[in-house]
Amino acid sequence: MKILVAYYSRSGNTKKMAEAVAEGVKQAGVDADLKDVSTMNVDDLPLYDAFICGSPTYYGLMAAEMKKLLDDSVKYHGKLSGKVGGAFTSAGGIGGGAETTVLSILEALLIHGMVVVGEAGSFHYGPVAIGEPDEKVLAACKKYGTKIADLTKKVINET
Ligand SMILES: Cc1cc2nc3c(=O)[nH]c(=O)nc-3n(C[C@H](O)[C@H](O)[C@H](O)COP(=O)(O)O)c2cc1C
Repeated sequence: MKILVAYYSRSGNTKKMAEAVAEGVKQAGVDADLKDVSTMNVDDLPLYDAFICGSPTYYGLMAAEMKKLLDDSVKYHGKLSGKVGGAFTSAGGIGGGAETTVLSILEALLIHGMVVVGEAGSFHYGPVAIGEPDEKVLAACKKYGTKIADLTKKVINET
């Protein structure tokens, strides 16, 4: 079982979140690959049981680099169904569109037929940071990685 944490980050904030998410996946005993979307190929996606996408918030949505990966993923439309997915973001300010960004990524994953999970506590849709992630956000990122890894174990065993 292997999980991909794919991120785009210009000034490093989303990258720090991605590292914490990958750490959380590993804490659940699952292999995690951390990849910058600018260096990755869409052909990587089918190789994973789950993928978690992190992007900075740009105009309330994901960055074009992350959207390109998702647009390119049409090559595997129908073949990613049943995999597990997740999303996280760093935005510049409160009310800057962090949640709409997370949801824009989750929408694409749902269209692939992927399984996504919410959170009853803080960070309902997925982890969000304002600028650089603080300790609270990094802890939420780790918890999110662990939660997705645990969910992936269950989903993969049932399919
Ligand atoms: C092109 C562009 C658009 C942005 N749009 C928004 C926005 O709509 N809302 C917001 O809160 N921050 C916005 N920001 C700020 C970034 O989301 C913020 O600086 C983030 O922490 C950058 O993450 P990174 O360090 O991973 O690149 C924008 C930044 C850029 C460069």
